Amino acid sequence: MKVAVLGAAGGIGQALSLLLKTQLPAGSELSLYDVAPVVPGVAVDLSHIPTDVKVQGFGKDDLTDALKGCDVVLIPAGVPRKPGMDRSDLFNINAGIVRNLVDAIADTCPEACIGIITNPVNTTVAIAAEALKKKGVYNKNKLFGVTTLDVIRAETFVAELKGLSPEAVHVPVIGGHSGTTILPLLSQVDGVQFTDEEVASLTTRIQNAGTEVVEAKAGGGSATLSMGQAAARFCLSLVDAMNGQNVVEYTYVETNSDDAEFFAHPVRLGPAGVEEILPYGELSAFEQKAKDDMLEGLRGDIKLGQDFVNG
Ligand code: NAD
Ligand code: LMR
Repeated sequence: MKVAVLGAAGGIGQALSLLLKTQLPAGSELSLYDVAPVVPGVAVDLSHIPTDVKVQGFGKDDLTDALKGCDVVLIPAGVPRKPGMDRSDLFNINAGIVRNLVDAIADTCPEACIGIITNPVNTTVAIAAEALKKKGVYNKNKLFGVTTLDVIRAETFVAELKGLSPEAVHVPVIGGHSGTTILPLLSQVDGVQFTDEEVASLTTRIQNAGTEVVEAKAGGGSATLSMGQAAARFCLSLVDAMNGQNVVEYTYVETNSDDAEFFAHPVRLGPAGVEEILPYGELSAFEQKAKDDMLEGLRGDIKLGQDFVNG
């Protein structure tokens, strides 16, 4: 299994690459690409960790070499938020970065599964889909918006509130990855009851958790360590599935539903990416209203990405 991280010298990129170096199956390869000149050093640094995962670093002009033979490509390249910004404020810079990287993937490893981390995810995934379509290599089963951070946050916050072990808590999170498009399904958490007030406050906290980190970092960026963990979990699940294991993760994919063209669902992963998009089940009245209220915004975010590529 060969995995590339594009934006590997950044806050997420370095945390993610460390976790992959220590947790990918023996015999895997890790290809680290960034435009920042430090990236070969990050690769040398990681290469001293004694695991059977080969690490190589690739600088600005070596994107094609970085992508050769990759099975999975993760993209955390781009700028993060500062206090006072929304994720959509990153569009002007990050849209072009994602477009260019995805074009190179289409040319070099068109069969790879692609995990988009760069914000605004609601839009950058649509950009990636349209860019791949233009190159004639789009496979909706192999393009994912990584929304795992919303899931791990929801699990952490529920466990904290109810005094449970976080490993024992599973919280579905559907929709998109910004503000109210992030929709935790607290009505479906096994064995846990919430009051209406708890549902309202937990939902808001999960939706604003990214902003909580941005404000706490006070201009120093957004979530990197928890995101590194979330992206590693997603990537390792994908790798397990590609190796034949039965794995389900919540992720933002193209669906054929009436909700929106892209929507985070529970997805059964398999050797060729998405094996089956599973239904998200019955919603409470609170969740149904929250979903109805956010769909127009999510559809707008998606259209923005499609228009960016198609003019
Ligand atoms: P960062 O600034 O620490 O790192 C970004 C890296 O991308 C830098 O090393 C930079 O050199 C590199 N880069 C920029 N342009 C590039 C290009 N064209 N090719 C390759 N590399 C390039 O930022 P970060 O904190 O790691 O965040 C990265 C992105 O991830 C941001 O857009 C952020 O909003 C997003 N993010 C998403 C989630 C999520 O849940 N999906 C969570 C946290 C952050
Ligand atoms: C997050 O949820 O932490 C990320 O999307 C980064 C951000 O800007 O909030």
